[in-house]
Amino acid sequence: MSVAALPAPVRSDFPTGFVWGAATAAYQIEGAAAEGGRSPSIWDTFSRTPGKVRNGDTGDIACDHYHRYREDVALMAELGLGAYRFSLSWPRVRPGGTGPANETGLDFYDRLVDELLGKGITPVVTLYHWDLPQALEDAGGWLDRETAYRFAEYAALAARRLGDRVPTWTTLNEPWCSAFLGYGSGVHAPGRTSPVEALTAHHHLLLAHGLGTAALRAELPSSAQVSLTLNLAAVRPAGRTPADLDAARRIDGLANRIFLDPVFKGSYPADVLADTAHVTDWGFVHDGDLAEISRPIDSLGINYYTPTVVGADDPSDPAPRQDGHAGEISPWPADEGVRFVPAEGSRTAMGWPVDADGLYELLTRLRDELPGVPLLVTENGAAYDDYSDPSGAVHDPERVAYLHGHLDAVRRAAADGVPVGGYFLWSLLDNFEWSFGYGKRFGMVHVDFASQRRTPKDSARWYAEVIRTGRLPEE
Ligand code: FCB
Repeated sequence: MSVAALPAPVRSDFPTGFVWGAATAAYQIEGAAAEGGRSPSIWDTFSRTPGKVRNGDTGDIACDHYHRYREDVALMAELGLGAYRFSLSWPRVRPGGTGPANETGLDFYDRLVDELLGKGITPVVTLYHWDLPQALEDAGGWLDRETAYRFAEYAALAARRLGDRVPTWTTLNEPWCSAFLGYGSGVHAPGRTSPVEALTAHHHLLLAHGLGTAALRAELPSSAQVSLTLNLAAVRPAGRTPADLDAARRIDGLANRIFLDPVFKGSYPADVLADTAHVTDWGFVHDGDLAEISRPIDSLGINYYTPTVVGADDPSDPAPRQDGHAGEISPWPADEGVRFVPAEGSRTAMGWPVDADGLYELLTRLRDELPGVPLLVTENGAAYDDYSDPSGAVHDPERVAYLHGHLDAVRRAAADGVPVGGYFLWSLLDNFEWSFGYGKRFGMVHVDFASQRRTPKDSARWYAEVIRTGRLPEE
């Protein structure tokens, strides 16, 4: 055979076996809120509480994915996705949070998993993406350590049914949001505003992760991967003064090390305990909890959108403090003296500065601090004010640019030795963006919520081409 007849060598910009995916979450897309035996979650309650979600939007119908999952999986296949990260609705799998599994709820996920596998798409399951059964909230929610035990039972029920076909399981998505936005600033369900409650919920969520990991291991084949997804912050000091550096240390503690230390080292960081000593004595940490929390996991999921720039507060500065989380009350316990400064760069429709270097910084930091822990980018993406033009097309050049920059950061990180094995674009579909309702569109596929029509945006075509070639196009 002559050299000319050989196929062109396939050169990918990304590591061999790199997983290309997209992500969603149950409450944000499923709808069918009162079908198939599902009970209400804290997000059903919260979205019905006047003033909590823009426009009074709820997840009652959302993208109607519960009924349209076949069409959605077909879209994924058309785009060439290798994996799909979705969450199970706890109140669908175990309505009311206790008792036996709801077989009708599990049947839905069974069908979804089979549909995915039938199209060669690997299912990646998250157990908790914020939709706590309301009945468990009524019994104390994440302020009660019993909730962590209920979570482990739910994890076991789900694994028993789906574990033969789902290779990767994530216990929690972004427990920082559940604890600090749910119990600190109150902009997420259950909408409470108490620093001590935020830290209590934080610990019980981590306990749920640990107990859930054990429950999963007991049910799943030994080949299964168990992970945790965190929205770690790429924290940068606003300046070089000792006060700025101390502010950055403080927020790094509350955003990052408050998770990484207990999960990977089995202890809470001493400086975080000291910083929060006036808030709580951490008496909710019981003997043995940290051993549970630090059970080995197989990979860590990272969700990244924008960096976090912090400096020392200047009381003479009349500018309002900005924490990037849209609430008037700070989500952070013990952030006295800290000022949040917007990063440079253009902004997305969320007002979040676009800064791909933050993702590179985060990934390389984790390479150095958690040697050998495989990483996945489990969420990354951007909201823009997309609309479908008279021809029916949705042009979203800003999202293409955002994705290009951030995928380039992943590529650079991999080239610099970061063990990053995959990327999941947030999100497959425009969906219910929590307290922002349907007003913020993160999808690579546009959803017309009145007709439920799906239209792949230009970014979806662009991403499909990246997946197909394994390369980022020339700019
Ligand atoms: C993350 C959430 C996800 C979505 C994106 C924009 O914090 O995990 O559900 O809302 O932000």
